[in-house]
Amino acid sequence: MSMKKVGICIIGAGRAGSLHAEIYSEHIVNSRVIAVVDSVQEPAMRIAKKYGADWYINHEEALKRSDVDAVIISTPTFTHARIAIDAAEAGKHIFCEKPMALTLKEADEMIAAARRVGVKLQIGFMRRFDVDFQTAKRMIEEGVIGKPSIIKSTGHGPGLPPPWACDPKTSIGMLAEVNSHDFDSVRWLMGSNISRVYAEAEAIAVPELKSRYPDFYDRAVVTLRFANGSLGLIDGGCPVKYGYDARVEVLGTDGVILIGELKSQSILVCKKETGAYTSTFPSWRDRFKDAYLKEDKHFIECIINDRKPLVSGEDGRAALEAVLAATKSLEEVKPITLPLT
Ligand SMILES: NC(=O)c1ccc[n+]([C@@H]2O[C@H](COP(=O)([O-])OP(=O)(O)OC[C@H]3O[C@@H](n4cnc5c(N)ncnc54)[C@H](O)[C@@H]3O)[C@@H](O)[C@H]2O)c1
Repeated sequence: MSMKKVGICIIGAGRAGSLHAEIYSEHIVNSRVIAVVDSVQEPAMRIAKKYGADWYINHEEALKRSDVDAVIISTPTFTHARIAIDAAEAGKHIFCEKPMALTLKEADEMIAAARRVGVKLQIGFMRRFDVDFQTAKRMIEEGVIGKPSIIKSTGHGPGLPPPWACDPKTSIGMLAEVNSHDFDSVRWLMGSNISRVYAEAEAIAVPELKSRYPDFYDRAVVTLRFANGSLGLIDGGCPVKYGYDARVEVLGTDGVILIGELKSQSILVCKKETGAYTSTFPSWRDRFKDAYLKEDKHFIECIINDRKPLVSGEDGRAALEAVLAATKSLEEVKPITLPLT
């Protein structure tokens, strides 16, 4: 395996899948994209053609290929578990986009299938590969700000996600699709599991979607308590129109660390007519460009060097559990204690 390029099969050639296809074929020397699957023929053909790969409309066909070493699952959330389990049973390493699945039962089955066969399972929490997030994590561990006490994580997306992500039957909603990144980051940065959540949410930006999906919301705040006694807050919004905004603040007993910026470049323009202005990140692709590349490189390195991915199935499960608890809190209008039974 060390000289041969890792054969990648992209499953789901939409927004996330086309980004991974580009990275694995153009920016990582040890991998090549040899198969692209999409249940819709047009994106499957288009992305496959772009990278000289073969295209398929169902993953079962592509999984039969012995030259496929690993799959990148970037399909809608409700399809992740079935595809991941099929991939494990075919002996393929698995990178699965967040949120890992719709239920903890699905997540457990995915973890068990990968473990049984001995294939890698990495979940797509790319923020963990962002240099600022990593530096902050190291400083917190070194005790630079003393004992971490309160974490605040802001996760805002510019535009509405695809329609399946608004439908509670095919997705768990915004806290899963947008803010599962925040649930993962806070747990990782605080070095402690979430032990209680209380959530409030409302459809404020696009209230008309409530007539189609009664549980739809586009703004949420979640208060958190961690097992080690520290506290937290996540605020989510999508769509927010102004850009992709991911910022974290960690208050410790000896100081505070701020991660991330609203503005995307160190340019400020000022004119009499406009006042001062700067620019934001148009999308997650721009804000976490380097992080996506590093997470994909990490997956290939784990396969080649037989290491356990830094972002594991268990991490994906933990974020999912917090999302499910927050969603339950919305439904029951009360704080929910974790672990969920
Ligand atoms: N890490 C990130 O920052 C990030 C960013 C965007 C999306 N995502 C995640 O990636 C996943 C996909 O999201 P997206 O925004 O790219 O969605 P999308 O709708 O743009 O793309 C999904 C694609 O999957 C295809 N598809 C649907 N069912 C399929 C099946 N059973 N088999 C094969 N193909 C199928 C669709 O035709 C579509 O082309 C979601 O889990 C989402 O949360 C992660």
